[in-house]
Amino acid sequence: MAKQGKSSKLWGGRFSAEMADIALDFSESIAADSRMAAEDIWGSEAHALMLAKCGIISRDDLKAILTELEKAREDLQAGKLPLRRELEDIHMNVEVYVRQGAGPEMGGKLHTARSRNDQVVTDCRMHLRTRLLDIMEAVAALQKALLQRARGNERTVMPGYTHTQHAQPISVAFWLSSYVSMLARDQDRLWGAFQRTNRCPLGAAALAGTSFPTDRAYVAKLLGFDGVVEHALDAVGSRDFVAEALAALCILMSNLSRLAEEFVLFSTYEYGLLEIHDSLASGSSIMPQKKNPCIAELSRARAGLVYGRLMEILTLLKALPSGYNRDLQQDKPPLWQALDESEMTIRALEAMVRTVKFNTGRMRELVGKNFATATELANFLVANRGLPFRTCHEIVGGLVAQLIAEGKTLDDHRRVQEILRRHGQELSLDEIEAVCDPQACLVRQVSLGSTGPDSVTALLASLKAVHAEALKQARSARRRIERARERTAKLVKEALAL
Ligand code: ARG
Repeated sequence: MAKQGKSSKLWGGRFSAEMADIALDFSESIAADSRMAAEDIWGSEAHALMLAKCGIISRDDLKAILTELEKAREDLQAGKLPLRRELEDIHMNVEVYVRQGAGPEMGGKLHTARSRNDQVVTDCRMHLRTRLLDIMEAVAALQKALLQRARGNERTVMPGYTHTQHAQPISVAFWLSSYVSMLARDQDRLWGAFQRTNRCPLGAAALAGTSFPTDRAYVAKLLGFDGVVEHALDAVGSRDFVAEALAALCILMSNLSRLAEEFVLFSTYEYGLLEIHDSLASGSSIMPQKKNPCIAELSRARAGLVYGRLMEILTLLKALPSGYNRDLQQDKPPLWQALDESEMTIRALEAMVRTVKFNTGRMRELVGKNFATATELANFLVANRGLPFRTCHEIVGGLVAQLIAEGKTLDDHRRVQEILRRHGQELSLDEIEAVCDPQACLVRQVSLGSTGPDSVTALLASLKAVHAEALKQARSARRRIERARERTAKLVKEALAL
């Protein structure tokens, strides 16, 4: 293939030497690009259809080009599309495939009014948009699992924590649904990232557009984009959509790492609030008694990995001059890795949520032992004795200190009554029992968004609706992309039949 004294590359016209092995090794991007092969072929079909529609290539040329692109798709689906490293990237491989089947002229014509610079960012946007939808659907599945486990546990009482210290009684449904609420914002961020990703840069050419009378909106439509990235220089040189997707993944992973951490913590002997299913834990090679929450620990750790990928992208982008720079090629490995690891983390946690066992007896035991209803007792004094909250806080604080000194708890109703009497507060034993019982305390919480069962029932209903809406958004976006794929396939078929 090498011509005398010249580079064998398709771009080699002005070169007098073959590319050095080290240069090729250093710069080829086949591994990361291979994920975008289907997108590259679809993009080429849409581009060719547009060139013919605009009279830039003939119908016969179109037919010859599309015939090869169809074969390339079949080879790809059969796992035998040749991806040659020496051709550097996916775009060159597809173009060379067309040249080899239909002759160099056809490969050359296909590349009219486009550049690898707009091709690569088009492929990347197409691949990323689908992965963002995958992730939205995975998050929705996790939300669904959390909601299912929450339902029926609106009155299952457990300790609620602040500063990792017992604070007030909450329900298991309230605890689980807090993650559904967080994840709803993640869905929103992923959707925002999707919307800014799903814009078509193809036709920007290298940086300045083209003198050919192209129709970029037509290409965008064929490729299932919601519109074009209009400014050609911006279209080829910007990757803020990659940074945005990664930022959304980082925040999602941060939220997921909190859930993972609570699985680790709550499954310890010391807490004993829950038990991770055996299928999602592992043992020790030396200590026979061990059951380690490895999947939860690794979920927690994966957040760090994804943060690192964002930092990699931000550093890559910092201070890049305008237009395409080869640095940008390095955006894909971290992007793919962050997407893969995030999706796996979501799925692992979903499995964990589905199968976790709640130790409700231990929850009840802990929540009654450590003054979790002290706030409610102070509230009772405010509501029934007309005292300012601060005064009641002081009284109950003194009561708690006294009980701790005596090794007693709020369960010791007679002692509670005596100590309160000394503070000038007369409460019946029935009143004390009603106020200090964690279960009764839970039921009394009535404010909007509180842990009370009525409030939680309302929360679960609204979170379910929000979850369904995000899922609907993702699914209908996926259908729009599939329809665009079908439309392109139909046009290809018609062009080939002519
Ligand atoms: N492999 C390149 C990338 O991933 C494609 C664009 C290369 N353009 C160029 N002029 N070398 O960014």
